[in-house]
Amino acid sequence: MSPEATITTSMRMYLDGHPDLIYFFFGGKGGVGKTAMAGTTALWLAGQGRRTLLASTNPVHSLSGLLGQNVSSGHTAVTGIANLWAYEIDTRDTIERSKKEIREKIQWFLKFADISTKADDFVESATMNPAFEESAMFENMVDLMLKNEYEAYVFDTAPTANARRLLGMSKVYSLWVDKMLKSREEARTLREMLSFTKKKEEDPLLEYLLQFRTRMGQARRLLTDAQKTAFFFVTLPEALPIAVITRFIGWFHDFGIPVGGVVVNMVLDREALGSDVPEFVLNRMQMQDDHMKTIWEKFDGNVRAIVPLFDQEVRGVPMLRQAARALFP
Ligand SMILES: Nc1ncnc2c1ncn2[C@@H]1O[C@H](COP(=O)(O)OP(=O)(O)O)[C@@H](O)[C@H]1O
Ligand SMILES: [Mg+2]
Repeated sequence: MSPEATITTSMRMYLDGHPDLIYFFFGGKGGVGKTAMAGTTALWLAGQGRRTLLASTNPVHSLSGLLGQNVSSGHTAVTGIANLWAYEIDTRDTIERSKKEIREKIQWFLKFADISTKADDFVESATMNPAFEESAMFENMVDLMLKNEYEAYVFDTAPTANARRLLGMSKVYSLWVDKMLKSREEARTLREMLSFTKKKEEDPLLEYLLQFRTRMGQARRLLTDAQKTAFFFVTLPEALPIAVITRFIGWFHDFGIPVGGVVVNMVLDREALGSDVPEFVLNRMQMQDDHMKTIWEKFDGNVRAIVPLFDQEVRGVPMLRQAARALFP
């Protein structure tokens, strides 16, 4: 039995059924080929004549390596592929920018509240927490999504549970901002009541929070819109990567985030191996066959492609083209 025979809705068919799909995400365990599959999908979409951005919010630089071209300084046209741009967001830049923004807001607030202390201590404690980097990246991603400069966005997401946390965060943000808004409004009303001049005060922090809530709301709507967004999960026919995406898919269902399907990568191609196959390889093939059974059971109807293990890394345009023939046969 050829494994392809069991794919009921291929990648191509899924995309045909979702013509308005704009945001493509790739998730899965580290090393399974998320970056490779994101790049392959972006190349294919660009090949369909769609103005496409391949973006990475991953702190580990990977797109420049994938494309053999530095794409970290901004939206960069990919050499040799029409309609394709790539952008590897520099996390340090983002963090510096966010820190600066927060510093200004905190300074304003301290002045407003008549508190004489150095803002630096506050900024430090606000930005030292580990979630700050993630939320800065999330904001970056949301900015890209809302700018609407491309016809397709392919995001190479971070390898851990971050994706889900990021998305969960948009809900938490919303709640937090609502709370902040409430207390800011109360503080403002009180101040206005106490002041003799009755003049309505500008409140940059309030403005910021309002804007922020609006953006988060928009982002959540986009991320949960199954016509516009799809998360694809990459796995190998191995126990651990399967367990990881099983967990992810469960979470995403809970969050109402659309799951586009599963891509099985690095599958040994029986036909390409010929007849004189060493025992070591035969054993690995047997192992993969066993895990493929699990995959068909677990992700029934949601396997979109089986991509073979190539004899070299997926790096550079020729290899991306080869991978595209497997992902979109
Ligand atoms: N089908 C494949 N055949 C051969 N090598 C692959 C294949 N898919 C990915 N690779 C290689 O495996 C490594 C890990 O892939 P990568 O896309 O960086 O994984 P991730 O982004 O999930 O960490 C890279 O060196 C990549 O070129
Ligand atoms: Mg990667």
